[in-house]
Amino acid sequence: MSRDAWAGTDVLSILDFSRADIETLLKEASTFADNPKSAKKSLKDEIVATAFFEPSTRTRLSFSAAALRLGAKVIDLSPDVSSVLKGESLADTIRMLDGYSDLIVIRHPSEGAALLASEVATVPVINGGDGSQHHPSQAMLDLFTVKRLMGRIDGLNYAVVGDIRYARSAASLLYGLSKFKPGSVHLISPESLRPRDEVRDTLLKLGLKTDQLANLDDVIADVDVIYLTRIQKERFPDPNEYEKVKGSYRITKSSLARAKKGSIVLHALPRTNELAYEVDSLPSAAYMKQARFGVPVRMALLDLVLGGSTR
Ligand code: NCD
Repeated sequence: MSRDAWAGTDVLSILDFSRADIETLLKEASTFADNPKSAKKSLKDEIVATAFFEPSTRTRLSFSAAALRLGAKVIDLSPDVSSVLKGESLADTIRMLDGYSDLIVIRHPSEGAALLASEVATVPVINGGDGSQHHPSQAMLDLFTVKRLMGRIDGLNYAVVGDIRYARSAASLLYGLSKFKPGSVHLISPESLRPRDEVRDTLLKLGLKTDQLANLDDVIADVDVIYLTRIQKERFPDPNEYEKVKGSYRITKSSLARAKKGSIVLHALPRTNELAYEVDSLPSAAYMKQARFGVPVRMALLDLVLGGSTR
């Protein structure tokens, strides 16, 4: 996809983008990351609407920061003080935002909500996370972080650790990796948190080879990128099931003692107890940088979708 082909497109899933599309995005993000303040105000006539029906710190604020850095204005729906509380439907709410803005970023607990929004809206819609399904901009920033810190995405060994069943960040990263040529991809989780059939089938179809392990320790000496996830407590249909896996994995300084030299630890954040605070002082702790890269990657995404630099 050339730059032009990004213009006006909905961003619902990273599956919809080719390696070349992603590389275009990563390249543009890299320019913004080098110097975010000197970016041209290429979106000064645009209004970006954020509509977050689930908690968010990084995704909502980094989209807002990205829009502001490019000169766009941002309006925010805040469902808890909007007519959503009076029972307005999602479709009607989106119709309003469609009339008030040039692009909508939506996060919603229901899978398919972003797709519905994209069908209702005439402006482009970016999925900021729909249930356990997709979180494309997170996967894009995760790939960007790997490229930036490790110099490449291909040929590296990855371990995706934790709640692969419910964490949309894990599934989306795996979908993203399927566009590249990783050396190996290990899925490491308790049995009940292994990927859903739908994710496993998609990965098979895409030809991404993975293996399923119970312990990170078995492969830690060979892994370049450890991608840790929070147990998505809010998505368990049965709280007893959550209780069974709560605290079942945790990365600490000592669990990383045998990690490969030069390897990195990533986490979409927020962390709970799966990632010890003591890890922050290790050179491999890359998750705070990763969170910061959310701004340049989302600048690139907004700029490409709204056609900023090409106008
Ligand atoms: C993730 C999410 O919301 O899916 N957070 C994020 O966007 N940075 C991961 C999580 O909530 O565990």
